[in-house]
Amino acid sequence: MPFWLLNQVFSQVLQRPACGYPTPIVPVQFLGISARQVTSDASFRSASFSDTEHPRVLITGGLGQLGVGLAKLLRKRFGKDNVILSDIRKPSDHVFYSGPFIYSDILDYKNLREIVVNNRITWLIHYSALLSAVGEANVSLARAVNITGLHNVLDIATEHNLRLFVPSTIGAFGPSSPRNPAPDLCIQRPRTIYGVSKVHAELIGEYYHYRYGLDFRCLRYPGIISADTQPGGGTTDYAVQIFHDAIKSGKFQCYLKPDTRLPMMYIDDCLRATLEIMEASSDSLPMRTYNINAMSFTPEELAQEVVKHLPEFQVTYNVDAVRQAIADSWPMNFDDSNARKDWGWKHYYDLPELVTVMFSFHTSESRAAHA
Ligand code: SER
Repeated sequence: MPFWLLNQVFSQVLQRPACGYPTPIVPVQFLGISARQVTSDASFRSASFSDTEHPRVLITGGLGQLGVGLAKLLRKRFGKDNVILSDIRKPSDHVFYSGPFIYSDILDYKNLREIVVNNRITWLIHYSALLSAVGEANVSLARAVNITGLHNVLDIATEHNLRLFVPSTIGAFGPSSPRNPAPDLCIQRPRTIYGVSKVHAELIGEYYHYRYGLDFRCLRYPGIISADTQPGGGTTDYAVQIFHDAIKSGKFQCYLKPDTRLPMMYIDDCLRATLEIMEASSDSLPMRTYNINAMSFTPEELAQEVVKHLPEFQVTYNVDAVRQAIADSWPMNFDDSNARKDWGWKHYYDLPELVTVMFSFHTSESRAAHA
């Protein structure tokens, strides 16, 4: 979207009354109304999820690093047809034939609302976003997708009484946050548009929860390491790429310094955490935004673990100033004790298990390719 158009969209949004209701003088929790003035009525409630039924799930940004894996997990639990993947991109044959897929553009409010209504959606997993490094390269697009898009999602979720999951990130912290570890509640002054948009998501999601009764749930993900999908334009991507390059060429050039420590997690733990927080009872969630963590390592430590599987592996360093500055402003470790205490979060994969599972995936892939 061109910047002038974006500005128009913003000015329209700014001119729109924040809420067409008089300033409340009574507590406003659970009014069931949204900022777009759609009043609560029985038809919204009819779409809501009762404990005896399976949820009807929509995943936005479904063709990124996490959507396909999450759809697989949720389809196993709730049935194939109850989980709809969506994106603005064209799916592969494999994705298209493995369950419902639909075109959805989160910047198109009516398109999104139509999908929610026609499919009687009850849970929305909002994965559309531009990551940290690519966001710095295109701030206006990141602002549109990560902030304007989120506003559409929030309003639709509120109007239709959805349970809404929005991922946040280690990127929601900045150089003035405690870095080792970063607790759930502390100073958050990120220096990337990605981080700023995610702090905004945390705050406005919680605001809608208290103001309108939106069932908003948010996890701050560490860097996620996946075997069969690629992240797009993040700062932690090196920890995925290293495995591809190690298997392919025995070498890897890293864009972060060898001692850059960041919190990380294997994708299976991340997807399971997402399902668990979505299934948690509201009573077990005194907070609506939680850190989750599994491990924390540097490129050097990861490379040492890789060498155990591939003794001839060689890593070199060619530091990218933008991504190094981003990583240097992020936590080195995450305190996720509240998630462990409140809803029983635990991780299964530490660094050795992660490297073993990544190697077994990539070696069987490369064997299949050469068969
Ligand atoms: N993986 C993300 C990134 O590097 C952090 O959440 O941008």
